[in-house]
Amino acid sequence: MITPRSAATPPSSPAVRKAVVPAAGLGTRFLPATKATPKEMLPVVDKPAIQYVVEEAAAAGLDDILMVTGRHKRAIEDHFDHAFELEQALAAKGDTVRLDAVRDPARLADIHHIRQGDPLGLGHAVLCARRHVGDQPFAVLLGDDLIDPRETLLSRMLEVREQHAGSVVALMEVSPEQIHLYGCAAVEPSADAGVVRVTGLVEKPPREHAPSSYAVIGRYVLDPAVFGVLDRTPPGRGGEIQLTDALQELATHDIVHGVVFTGLRYDTGDKADYLRTVVRLACERPDLGPEFIAWLKGFVAALESPGHEDGETLAA
Ligand code: UTP
Repeated sequence: MITPRSAATPPSSPAVRKAVVPAAGLGTRFLPATKATPKEMLPVVDKPAIQYVVEEAAAAGLDDILMVTGRHKRAIEDHFDHAFELEQALAAKGDTVRLDAVRDPARLADIHHIRQGDPLGLGHAVLCARRHVGDQPFAVLLGDDLIDPRETLLSRMLEVREQHAGSVVALMEVSPEQIHLYGCAAVEPSADAGVVRVTGLVEKPPREHAPSSYAVIGRYVLDPAVFGVLDRTPPGRGGEIQLTDALQELATHDIVHGVVFTGLRYDTGDKADYLRTVVRLACERPDLGPEFIAWLKGFVAALESPGHEDGETLAA
C-alpha cells in the first residue's frame, strides 16, 4: 500500500540523477528491419535514435543512464562503448571529426546495461531497473521516442518533480482518432501554466472511453514508489505489464502531475513517423540540408506533376 501524500505536503525530493532507457521491445511494427537490430538503433540521419535520447538525458543533467536491453543487447552496448580498432584507424588517418563522432556516445554519461529476459511489457522493463535505481526518483526515456533537441521538456518535468514530489508524466494532445494508440490521462487543472494534475490513466482506450485527449508520451520522472506498485501489477492490455496501469494506481494514492508538451516529438518506432523524422532532421542539418532540400523540392514537384503515375521517372 502506498502511503497517501497530500498535495500540501512540502516536497523533500532529492535531485534526480539517474535515467532508465527501456530498449527491449520487439519492435514488431518495424519488421523485418528489427529482426536482427533493435529499433532503437535505426539511424536517424547518421545517429541511432537512442543516441538522441541519451543526449537529451545528459543535457538535462542526468549523468547515470541504465539501458534496459533485450535480444539485441550487443548492438546497443557496443554503440555506447569504445571501439578501439576503429578509433585507432581514424586517429592514424588524422580524421578527428569522425574520431569524435565515434567517441562521443561513450562520453555522454555513465552508461550501464541490464537485460530484460522476456519482453513482458514496458512496466516490467522499468521494474528491471529497480536494483540499479534504488530508493531515488528517476527519469524514464523511451529509446525510440525522440523529443526535438531544442525542447526543454525533461528539464521542466524535473522542476515539477522538485516542486511537488510524486511522479511526473509528459502529455501531448492528440486527435480523438489517435488516442487509442496511447496511454490516456484524466486530468484537472493545476496552478502552474502547462502543468496538470493527473487523476487517472488508461492504456490505449477506445475513443469513446478516453477520459481526455491527453496522450502519455515517452518521458517520465518517477517516484521510487512505482517499483512496489509494478511488482504487484498483473499483465494488462496485450498481456503485458503496463507502466500505465502502475501509474494509474500512483495517481489514485500519490501525486502525479502531467507536463503538457506542445513541441516537436518523433516516434521512430512507427514507420511513417520515422520517415518524417529523418526527412525533417536531414533538412535542418547545415551540412546536408541545402542540397537535400533542393532535391526534395524537385522530387515533390515531380510527384505532383501530371503523368508521374503513368511511370515517368522521378527526380534523380
Ligand atoms: P512499444 O510500445 O513501442 O513496443 O514500446 P515494442 O514492442 O517495442 O514495439 P512494437 O509495438 O512491437 O513495434 C515502448 C518502449 O518500451 C520498450 C521498447 O523498447 C520501447 O522503447 N519496451 C517495451 C521494453 O523495453 N520492454 C518491453 O517488454 C516492451
